[in-house]
Amino acid sequence: MDAKLVSHIRSVNGSVPISGAKNSALLILAATLLAKEPVLLNRVPDIQDVRFMLDVLELLGMKIRWFGPAVVYFDPSDIQYKDLNTEVCGKIRASILFLGVMLGRFSKVSLRLPGGCNLGPRPIDRHIDVLTQLGADFKQMGHSIIASKLKDGASEVSFSNPTVTGTANAILYAVCQDSDVVIKNAALEPEIDDLISFLQALGAKVSRMGGMIAIKGGATLGGCHYDIIPDRIEAGTFLIAGAVLGGKIEVEEVIPQNLDVVLKALQAVGADIRTSDNHISLEMKGRPVAHNIVATEYPGFPTDLQPQWCVLSAISEGESVILDRVHPERFDHMEQLAQLGVKYDSVESGVRIYGVDQLHGSEVYAKNLRSAAALVISGYVAKGQTNIVKISELGRGYPGFFEKIKNLQK
Ligand code: EPU
Repeated sequence: MDAKLVSHIRSVNGSVPISGAKNSALLILAATLLAKEPVLLNRVPDIQDVRFMLDVLELLGMKIRWFGPAVVYFDPSDIQYKDLNTEVCGKIRASILFLGVMLGRFSKVSLRLPGGCNLGPRPIDRHIDVLTQLGADFKQMGHSIIASKLKDGASEVSFSNPTVTGTANAILYAVCQDSDVVIKNAALEPEIDDLISFLQALGAKVSRMGGMIAIKGGATLGGCHYDIIPDRIEAGTFLIAGAVLGGKIEVEEVIPQNLDVVLKALQAVGADIRTSDNHISLEMKGRPVAHNIVATEYPGFPTDLQPQWCVLSAISEGESVILDRVHPERFDHMEQLAQLGVKYDSVESGVRIYGVDQLHGSEVYAKNLRSAAALVISGYVAKGQTNIVKISELGRGYPGFFEKIKNLQK
């Protein structure tokens, strides 16, 4: 049965090793298709979305071997073009990355349109717009999109508004072209920097100045050994859990500057935060104080931590307004949290949460990955037991979540 019973925890204490970033790994896995020689990736999170991406790579002829829990070897010598109208591409949103990379490598692709977390409407118009500026042509046929390279594109292209996977698609396409390209208004997320570092390790000439990315054409790409960056969202999830449950936790192997805004918000609710090079500690005594947040693009508060923050607000002293400017409809967790006693009203692009002393266990339903994380945290703070149905959503993004939490209960 796809459900998990979670019991109240009095507080947490201990340290959590943070895995490689899901949203970097997904971009970099797509990019392995551009390697002409073997690639060894370290810190690959063993999660469902990564497994789906590996399935697609294998379908295209990539030879893949796990060398340990987080080390994966890729041999691209037998890669061949295939249509990607397969069901697996419909299962995850990240399969949209095959649009840019296949167009770049083979000048054509037929790709089943992606599924993934249901976060309200998730169009791909910005991907299509910039790839069209870069010379590609698109048609939709049923559930698939058919694209081909029509001509040499513009040397300077711009996103109307930033998009993370859209920026990755534009980079993956542009590094395969013979001429130079400048991409403007690109996403600022650290996962894009990680993709750029990986492509540089393969031999691509890519540089970034804020939202402007410059790509030199005609580079020959080889292979490399590469370490994926740590997952700032996994680290943020554990830190928020620490602030909700109280106690002292340390997240290890992280990049603290990638969580700057989150750490400031945690300090504002009353947490004592200390950072060093690759380590963050949080100590929380007493009840958190309500604090408003607005989720925006990086370097703003991440939308992927907004549901977890709603749980923190739910048990804080006072009222908080939580807005999400990236995914304004990403509030499906609220009606589930209400089952546990969370009090809230909906406002435009968000919610106003009225903090209560205590939540109580019940049955809730996880509709997507980050909702699942929020529900698990709320289940641990609620008195009694909480049954989380569709807990498999959590496995799409958090490797070994329950073992990591268990180690914090000693
Ligand atoms: N948007 C458009 N048109 C487009 C593309 C995006 O209107 O062509 C809108 C979206 O609807 C959304 C906003 O722009 O409102 C930002 O979307 P973006 O394209 O940046 O999101 P994404 O690339 O599809 C990635 C992460 C998400 C994360 C968002 C925002 C990956 C694989 N996914 O998605 O991660 O929420 O950026 O930071 O990198 C998660 O990990 O739980 C997750 C959903």
